[in-house]
Amino acid sequence: MDKKFYITTPIYYPSAKPHMGHAYSSIIADFFARFKMIDDYHVHFLTGTDEHGLKIQRSAEKAGKDPQIFCDHISQTFRDLSDTLNLSNTDFIRTTETRHKKTVQHLWSKLEKNDDIYLSNYSGWYSVSDEAFYNEDEIEKIDGKKIAISSKSSVEWIEEESYFFRLSKWEKPLLNYYEANPDFISPVSRKNEVISFVKSGLKDLSISRKSFSWGIPVPNNQRHVIYVWLDALTNYLSALNYPNTNDDLFKKFWPASIHLIGKDILRFHAVYWPAFLLAAKIDLPKKVYGHGWILSGEEKMSKSRGNILDPLEIIKKYGLDPLRYYLIKEVSFGNDGNISQERLEDCINSDLANNYGNLCQRVTAFAIKNCDGKIPSIIKFQDEDLLILNKFKDNLDNIRSKIDDQNINFYIDYIVNSLFEANKYFNDQEPWKKKDDPIRLNTIVYTTLEIVRKISFLLYPIIPASSLKALKIFDIKENKVKLNTITNNEFLTKGNNLNKIDILFKKIEKNND
Ligand code: MSP
Repeated sequence: MDKKFYITTPIYYPSAKPHMGHAYSSIIADFFARFKMIDDYHVHFLTGTDEHGLKIQRSAEKAGKDPQIFCDHISQTFRDLSDTLNLSNTDFIRTTETRHKKTVQHLWSKLEKNDDIYLSNYSGWYSVSDEAFYNEDEIEKIDGKKIAISSKSSVEWIEEESYFFRLSKWEKPLLNYYEANPDFISPVSRKNEVISFVKSGLKDLSISRKSFSWGIPVPNNQRHVIYVWLDALTNYLSALNYPNTNDDLFKKFWPASIHLIGKDILRFHAVYWPAFLLAAKIDLPKKVYGHGWILSGEEKMSKSRGNILDPLEIIKKYGLDPLRYYLIKEVSFGNDGNISQERLEDCINSDLANNYGNLCQRVTAFAIKNCDGKIPSIIKFQDEDLLILNKFKDNLDNIRSKIDDQNINFYIDYIVNSLFEANKYFNDQEPWKKKDDPIRLNTIVYTTLEIVRKISFLLYPIIPASSLKALKIFDIKENKVKLNTITNNEFLTKGNNLNKIDILFKKIEKNND
């Protein structure tokens, strides 16, 4: 098996507990990872925490804690969230781990050896909240306070000795790379933003800080710590044991298939990171996808704006799979989206409880009563049965290619339509009126059960636990969920017992006052 897929989430700052924006990046990454898993890829799915830099040092000071102890504690809440979100991640990296520090220092030495690093002095604006440098034209003054226009976070003036990366040298090679690899930055709107930023001219980048100590020391000059973004981005390599290029993980999974990130950190991933890699002569990731933001009102949800929604509270109230379904369906992928509990309740009631849950219950109950509790054995497909069954086979390649284009909207629409058609098929075929034609009755039941099976397979990447719960009807375990079997119209073993399952989704009582 040589199909490989390496997907990463951003590594999160453990400066405060996770919020819905973080949950969103992770859930989307899990969706892609699980889709590829059931499509027989070897999947490496990485997430983790980004623990160095002034932002973390100051948060720890504010909490009156040693930074390492502070990080240990909050990083654990991110790890716990991975479990709560039912992520299928194969690794969780922390940038304070030795494996990571070694890789970062190696990369630094390589850049230095290739003459891409020099020592000079930096003076300019810096946002601790974004851990980013800003030019004069990227900031504005509001109420006497200087802030970065793009992120609205406050900036402070810094002047200190600093190492620089020769970013300007990589302006042309980057532009050439974007042109030769048109899919490298997605979606297209973001690619255009990046290209115009690079075309406007790249200045050399300050990559070390001297006025604080919470970071990875620069090799051979312990008075400096490495800029937190050079440190953080390298996690994608350190998790594969780079620089050991003979390591199985590195050989198998580098270059990454996709770095999934929020649009706020596109510049770091689509400009700085590929420039570092070009300079170090390491292959570039195949794609950087910048998704939109979860908004609160009109604004990005973030801790510094104090408008965060706790994913744990939503999960406690509605359950995990409804939240996963809602975020994947209702936030049009690539764009910003608002979270609304009302829409979430609509999704639960109409899509999950009515269209999916009810279909599963209805056909199973009917089969238990009328087919001796078994998957019917003697069947004879007619055109109308094959018409609906074959649609899955006919669409499989299209589904795969839409997923490779990150077209989640297509995927979810496909499922919603399939559910609609499945319910319509069962209603129109009226098996309850076919009691004097057992072959026809059995065939309708078998066809509907097959559709439930196929749709449950397709739902697995979105709502894994509920899909597996539905598949208990047929005793299908997780390792048997394989995408290519949706082309098979007679996958279900005839004559096997059917199992009754508990209700999949409880409807939410809506108060219409
Ligand atoms: N530590 C850096 C990333 C380093 S990656 C090498 C960082 N961390 S963060 O915790 O501030 O945010 C990480 C990611 O969380 C964002 O890029 C984005 O993917 C996600 N989100 C944070 N707030 C978000 C929203 N309100 N909406 C959607 N996603 C957002 O940046």
